[in-house]
Amino acid sequence: MRNSRIAGVGHYVPENVVTNKDLEKLMDTSDEWIRERTGIVERRYFQEGVDTTANMGAAAARKAIQMAGLEPKDIDMIVFATLSPDYVFPGSGVLMQRELGLKNIPALDVRNQCSGFVYALSVGDQFIKTGMYNNILVVGSEIHSTGLDFSTRGRGVSVIFGDGAGAVVLSPSDSNDKGILSTHLHADGEFAEELAVTAPNSNKKERLTHEMIDDGSVYPYMNGNMVFKHAVTRFPEVIEEALNKNGYKPEDIDLLVPHQANLRITSFIQQKMGLPTEKVMSNIQKYGNTTAASVPIALSEAYEEGRIKEGDLVCLAAFGSGFTWASALIRW
Ligand code: COA
Repeated sequence: MRNSRIAGVGHYVPENVVTNKDLEKLMDTSDEWIRERTGIVERRYFQEGVDTTANMGAAAARKAIQMAGLEPKDIDMIVFATLSPDYVFPGSGVLMQRELGLKNIPALDVRNQCSGFVYALSVGDQFIKTGMYNNILVVGSEIHSTGLDFSTRGRGVSVIFGDGAGAVVLSPSDSNDKGILSTHLHADGEFAEELAVTAPNSNKKERLTHEMIDDGSVYPYMNGNMVFKHAVTRFPEVIEEALNKNGYKPEDIDLLVPHQANLRITSFIQQKMGLPTEKVMSNIQKYGNTTAASVPIALSEAYEEGRIKEGDLVCLAAFGSGFTWASALIRW
């Protein structure tokens, strides 16, 4: 079986910058609280009529395709990770396919929230390993800003999330020592409702009621403390799993690209793994938590900043709603 490699990577974020100070005007919060608890300074929010989940994914994908030296017609499959699809159905993968002018290739949506991109990467990797496809677009794209409670009731969640998209092109690697060395996926549905949006709800006779809107169940609920506790355990665990599988130690990592959940979570992982700051990618300060888009945006920025060179050992890791968690170890 052949390995897949990341042949191209790209990202797109909306132009509209929203600072913590801007949020102070909408709810009882402060720049100081948000910076101290999360590390976030600003985030991007979509512009109606300009940005959609699918077209932001397409913008990121075009950059990844260009870096790979390919054209859209060379793409054999789309795997699209999002928790904020344009429509309830069909998925955003087919909308992005249309946006890119592609016809007849498969488009698969992945629903694994903050771990969505790493799950999607693993799906793409399997299709390349088996030889079924050669060039696969793996995309994470999110519009959170239209689904947040901007009253004080929602402040514990709403200040965290932002909009954006990232993408990679997966292609076959010319060597089995290079490319994606392994992926590791986990889930524990026991905690499904600890970080969730439970309305509209297909188990109710009326999927969407005025009551659901009034009581806030159309907005994300997060048990922040519980998410934090699980995240700081699962991140190191799944990173170590990837290292052990391939016979590496934490010090062999050249760059860790964790899901950008919270700067305190990232600092905790960094300390636990004994990694220096320059080996851990952080851009949550600029974008907040963009769930499925966060890992590919961070990877794309790290690449642009020259922090990834050929031959580097790069580890991607994510944790989020589900709970789900995942990692991928890549020899670049
Ligand atoms: N601005 C000001 N105050 C806020 C606030 C905000 N945006 N959000 C919550 N508060 C208040 C709370 O109401 C609470 O007030 P009280 O003590 O009067 O009741 C106080 O701040 C502390 O709240 P708490 O939730 O205990 O804070 P915390 O230190 O746990 O930080 C999170 C909250 C959300 C930042 C933290 O739990 C966290 O990062 N969790 C993980 C979240 C995450 O990573 N999610 C993504 C999953 S991938």
